[in-house]
Amino acid sequence: MPPRGRELILGVGGGIAAYKSADLLRRLQDHGFLITVVPTRASLNFVGKATWEALSGREVHEDLWKNVSSVPHISLARSADAIVIAPATADLIAKIATGRADDLLTNIVSASASPIILVPAMHPEMWLNPATIENVKILRSRGLLVIDPDEGRLTGADSGPGRFPTSERIVHEVEDFLGSKADLQGVTVLVSAGGTREPIDAVRYLGNLSSGKQGYALAYAAAKRGARVLLVAANCEQPDIEGVTTIHVKTAAEMLEALSANFASAQVLIMSAAVADFRPSISSDQKIDKSELASLTLIENPDILKTLTARRLQGQVIIGFAAQTGEGGSEKAMAKLKAKGLDAIYVNDVSGGAIFGEELTNGSILDSDGTISTVATTSKDSLAHLLLDVARNKLG
Ligand code: CTP
Repeated sequence: MPPRGRELILGVGGGIAAYKSADLLRRLQDHGFLITVVPTRASLNFVGKATWEALSGREVHEDLWKNVSSVPHISLARSADAIVIAPATADLIAKIATGRADDLLTNIVSASASPIILVPAMHPEMWLNPATIENVKILRSRGLLVIDPDEGRLTGADSGPGRFPTSERIVHEVEDFLGSKADLQGVTVLVSAGGTREPIDAVRYLGNLSSGKQGYALAYAAAKRGARVLLVAANCEQPDIEGVTTIHVKTAAEMLEALSANFASAQVLIMSAAVADFRPSISSDQKIDKSELASLTLIENPDILKTLTARRLQGQVIIGFAAQTGEGGSEKAMAKLKAKGLDAIYVNDVSGGAIFGEELTNGSILDSDGTISTVATTSKDSLAHLLLDVARNKLG
């Protein structure tokens, strides 16, 4: 099964609604999609390349004849998990329906095996033209999603079906369409998130920088894919996710207790939490005098993963995380995978506090079979899907 990340190509057709696609791009980014914009030449009359480069933060490709040696239409087609064309003009719809490929965008479409979503926007006469109706029918019969336009006021005094839908509706339909493959239905996924805090006294604790974003992304993605999800969250600020059972904990001991209680009912455990390896040997309900801090001694916390892998039931898939800095990160992570009895581990380089609290991540997925897959900078949401793909494949 190919990885199902969140790399999108946003194709922009030559209609006035191209300006609304700028907002759509932002809303798709809010939902964790990483976007490469491919405007048609005609669309650049409405919105220029600089706007797309600034909004996407990426190079914008529009010319089939540039960088020919890197075969951009094939590499872009392969890198995209989905293609959204917004606005899709009557001309683009006709070209795609007949398989024509005479510019970069239509070449990418014809070379892609990924889901394709069209957001038509045009005057009602063009939307209701028998040729357009026929072309839309053909595209839908081939499995493309063609979103119905809204009804209402268009350019000038015209009114009728053909308006570009709201960004909210498009994002909702895109999410629904891409998430429709509920490949984790019937599976219980247990996820840990955040960072444990080990109290020293009434106001102080030993803690770490973990924000919980990755764990929440995992829980959200697993729920979207149909899993029953139990999330054990340590000191996270995110709101609870609808449909996900969340148990809030503070310390490593509480996390171990919550995970232990639910481990036997789960088929997948993904341990993304940063667990404090040590806790203070004493912790006071009162605020202690600072002079006592210098003599603070520590006790080692139980290794939650090791404790649970020792109790592993047949068929359970267990994935860990490793935060490394400096050279030799993969080797150290592979040693952790073996020592902790994991099926896979995601290793990221957190030198200088990188990745903690951020939206993006990069690193490598190490599999117990020895394979290493590099994860180039991507959203935590995308990584969540990649790790769930690993778990899904191992579940068989
Ligand atoms: N882990 C755990 N129990 C602990 C400590 C860590 O279950 N007491 C889990 C973490 O949730 C993570 C993995 O083990 O999935 C990380 O392993 P660890 O050996 O702690 O490595 P790092 O966090 O990368 O850091 P360090 O090597 O400094 O310990």
